[in-house]
Amino acid sequence: MSSAKIIDGKAFAAKLRGDIASEVAKLKAEHGVVPGLAVVLVGEDPASEVYVRNKGKQTLECGMNSYEHKLPAATSQEDLLAIITQLNNDPKVHGILCQLPVPKHIDENAVLAAIDPAKDVDGFHIINAGALATGGDGIAPCTPYGCLMLLKDTLGDLSGKRAVVVGRSNIVGKPMAQLLLKENCTVTIAHSRTRDLAEEVRRADIVIAAVGRPNMITGDWIAKGATVIDVGINRIEGENGKMKLVGDVDFASAVEVAGAITPVPGGVGPMTIACLLNNTLIAACRANG
Ligand code: GUN
Repeated sequence: MSSAKIIDGKAFAAKLRGDIASEVAKLKAEHGVVPGLAVVLVGEDPASEVYVRNKGKQTLECGMNSYEHKLPAATSQEDLLAIITQLNNDPKVHGILCQLPVPKHIDENAVLAAIDPAKDVDGFHIINAGALATGGDGIAPCTPYGCLMLLKDTLGDLSGKRAVVVGRSNIVGKPMAQLLLKENCTVTIAHSRTRDLAEEVRRADIVIAAVGRPNMITGDWIAKGATVIDVGINRIEGENGKMKLVGDVDFASAVEVAGAITPVPGGVGPMTIACLLNNTLIAACRANG
């Protein structure tokens, strides 16, 4: 018998987008400002194309302007950086996002460093990463920020809780750990070289799974009553031969022991774009005093 509360990220994200749309309307009416988000996509990765299309659609639905720059895979780094400079200087653009991954001939770090930190709505610029680590007033990466919102909505105060973050990427694991530390959690970052990973996970009140390995974390790794946030989005072949989405957590076994758990799909996924729109709104407000 399953006991865990299912955390409805889809509903939470829809509510957040509604709140953002109200704020956007207010900004427009009171200051004549329409927040603008520019998304740059280099190449034709199908998953990235889906993300970019959804971002554009939801940006418009919130009443913001969307600017899409789809560039061929052979675009040179120099040309890409020139476009970013142009967007940095465009007052109609408040947020800039370059969809990752970029083709191999382009240096990802050079691209991220070229984005004006005030317009870096992904929160990937070293200035924003540094601000997050040192308690400054930067922009937090969207996926971990979305996870934090779901956690606070589920648990309230996180102070003193033991959190384990499985995965150490710059996009999710590291900023997630910083955000949890800010909330006064005791944070462990676990990864592929962690000894006795199951034991580390078993100690946690909060489990964040961000490794990109389908169904890796099973119910017997999870403490009874723990809150489980599954960031994984893995496409695997289902029993009927059709592709299906699964997380990094084996939902069927984890739901039996967890206190609360995010499903895949419908958990963390929808929060990422909602937080991106939130960051764009914040950037537009800051740019206009
Ligand atoms: N690729 C996968 N996730 C992300 C993200 O959050 N931002 C960007 N820019 N690229 C991504």
